[in-house]
Amino acid sequence: MKPIRILFISIEGNTRNFITHLTQFAEKQHSEDSEKPLIEATEISEQSDFEKETKDYFCFVPTYLDGGNGIDTGVKELMTNVMGEYIAYSTNRNHLIGVVGSGNKNFNEQYCLTAKRYASDYEAPFLADYELRGVPRDEPRVYNALLERLTEVVAEEA
Ligand SMILES: Cc1cc2nc3c(=O)[nH]c(=O)nc-3n(C[C@H](O)[C@H](O)[C@H](O)COP(=O)(O)O)c2cc1C
Repeated sequence: MKPIRILFISIEGNTRNFITHLTQFAEKQHSEDSEKPLIEATEISEQSDFEKETKDYFCFVPTYLDGGNGIDTGVKELMTNVMGEYIAYSTNRNHLIGVVGSGNKNFNEQYCLTAKRYASDYEAPFLADYELRGVPRDEPRVYNALLERLTEVVAEEA
C-alpha cells in the first residue's frame, strides 16, 4: 500500500507531537506487516508555499476559535486559517479524503469544531478526533480510521 499522506497544521506543537507518534506507530505496523502503510506527513504553516496536490491526503487540524458557543452564536477561526486556504487552493479540495480534528473538551460544543467545519466546507468525512497531544490508545484508533477510509476510497475509485 502507498504511504498515507497527511497535511497538518500545529500552532503550539500538540498536533505535531501526535503526528510524530502516529508516524512511529505506522512504522511499527509496517515493520510487522509490509501491507500496512507508512505515513508521509507535511506541515502547513504561514511560511508554506501553496502547491497543487496531486495525491489524496488527510488533513489534521486543531481548533482555535474566538467567541461564540459552537451552537447558535458565531465563532471565528483563528491561527489555523492557512490550512483551510491551502485546501481551497487550486484543485486541492478534490484530493482531501478525510479530516481528523483535535481540541480540548473544556470547549464543550466547540470541541474540534474547526475540523467539523472543514469536513462540511470541503465535503470530506470527519473521521476521528483526539484531545490535545492524544494518548497512546489514540494512535491505533486514528490509524485504523485512516486505513478504513483509504479502503473505502480505493473501492469507490475501482
Ligand atoms: C486561544 C485558544 C482557543 C482554543 N479554542 C478551542 C476551541 O474552540 N475548541 C477546541 O476544541 N479547542 C480549542 N483550543 C484548544 C486547542 O485546539 C488544543 O490545545 C490543540 O491541541 C492545539 O493544537 P496545536 O498545539 O497543534 O496547535 C483552543 C486553544 C487556544 C490557545
